[in-house]
Amino acid sequence: MAKVLVVYHTQTGNTEKLALAVKEGLESCGIEVILKKASEADLADLLSSDGYCFGTPDYFSYMAGALKDFFDRTCYPSEGKITNRAYVCFVSHGGGGKAVTSLEKMAERFKLRQIAKPLLVEGRPKKEDLEKAKELGKKLAKAII
Ligand SMILES: Cc1cc2nc3c(=O)[nH]c(=O)nc-3n(C[C@H](O)[C@H](O)[C@H](O)COP(=O)(O)O)c2cc1C
Repeated sequence: MAKVLVVYHTQTGNTEKLALAVKEGLESCGIEVILKKASEADLADLLSSDGYCFGTPDYFSYMAGALKDFFDRTCYPSEGKITNRAYVCFVSHGGGGKAVTSLEKMAERFKLRQIAKPLLVEGRPKKEDLEKAKELGKKLAKAII
């Protein structure tokens, strides 16, 4: 069974709601999902997954420090081992959303392949935002099945 790591950070729950919706979309397509907060995710999670979803709140127009720390910890030891794997990402923001650029640059550094446009959601996710997150999960699932 194909496996996806959904890794995210959250403080007030918005990003987590979106992560759970992505997970639902993936699972509806028969994908096994490892859902982890960035502070709890490690190299083994990265190496053992066939695809990735990265989710972060926008903090000062950059990804959350906890997610950056996950990338810092896994970059060198994963070098050359996950090249060209598929990924998607999403950002929860308060009216900005520029953090998406930092995520995309990081994924580029890891030589990952973005298979769908990033999802940007302002504030508390509404029903239609959760639906979009679910769709994002389905798109990722289709790319790795
Ligand atoms: C320290 C901090 C910095 C933030 N900086 C930005 C920012 O630069 N741009 C923006 O749009 N929102 C910013 N926000 C708002 C959060 O991105 C937004 O509230 C987000 O939905 C929080 O996600 P969460 O509920 O998963 O913690 C900031 C919030 C915090 C706590």
